[in-house]
Amino acid sequence: MRVVAIDGPAASGKSSTARAVARAIGFHHLDSGALYRALTRVALDAGLDPVNLDVPALLEQAERRGLGLRPEGEDFVPLLDGAPAEQLIRTPEVTAAVSAVSAVPAVRDWANARMRALAEAGVPVVVDGRDIGSVVFPEAGLKVFLYADSVVRALRRLVQQGGREPSNEEVFAEAERLKARDKADASRAVAPLVSPPDALELDTSRLTFEEQVDGIARLARTVYRLPAP
Ligand code: C5P
Repeated sequence: MRVVAIDGPAASGKSSTARAVARAIGFHHLDSGALYRALTRVALDAGLDPVNLDVPALLEQAERRGLGLRPEGEDFVPLLDGAPAEQLIRTPEVTAAVSAVSAVPAVRDWANARMRALAEAGVPVVVDGRDIGSVVFPEAGLKVFLYADSVVRALRRLVQQGGREPSNEEVFAEAERLKARDKADASRAVAPLVSPPDALELDTSRLTFEEQVDGIARLARTVYRLPAP
């Protein structure tokens, strides 16, 4: 199994970093958060309460709607009802409910089984999430934990989403939302957000995107004896 695990708090740049590292080393990118978001979309669409979740009903709906991951280029895109679900899973409604849904052990088992099946089938993957190095792929050859100050993360996310310079009030409000989600993710009983002891910790507030991608890609090439670019 060839796995690079990239964990970190909300808006730490995990997904974009994981995608760029995957491209640099010829692996596929797997965004585990997208699976939890898609499950949350299904729960909301079915009128299920995310806090008192009816798990059998959710998983039955997820199977019925064909929730899965389809390879598209170097990425795996979440599918619902046979179509890419990217837009449906990035709404504020889903973001607000996803921590509650992802805190349920049976939901995590379902998502983890799907991710492991891909890697066990021999697909080399860069996977990003909260518990990838600690729970899903503890045997990953390279584990990275990305972090950055919440205000830095908020500013990056708002610029990315809005394409304009946000006001200070907007940045602080977003930083508070990120901290609340990190708190929920880090304090849950099952698979909390944690930096595994054998992970390389990278403070991304001090690195350019290119530097962080390049550093991780170099390490991955060494670990998995990949050819130089
Ligand atoms: O990475 P993203 O912000 O899209 O993840 C959405 C949510 O999915 C997180 O806030 C967290 O609750 C959950 N998640 C998780 N474990 C992962 C990845 C995401 O619990 N490995």
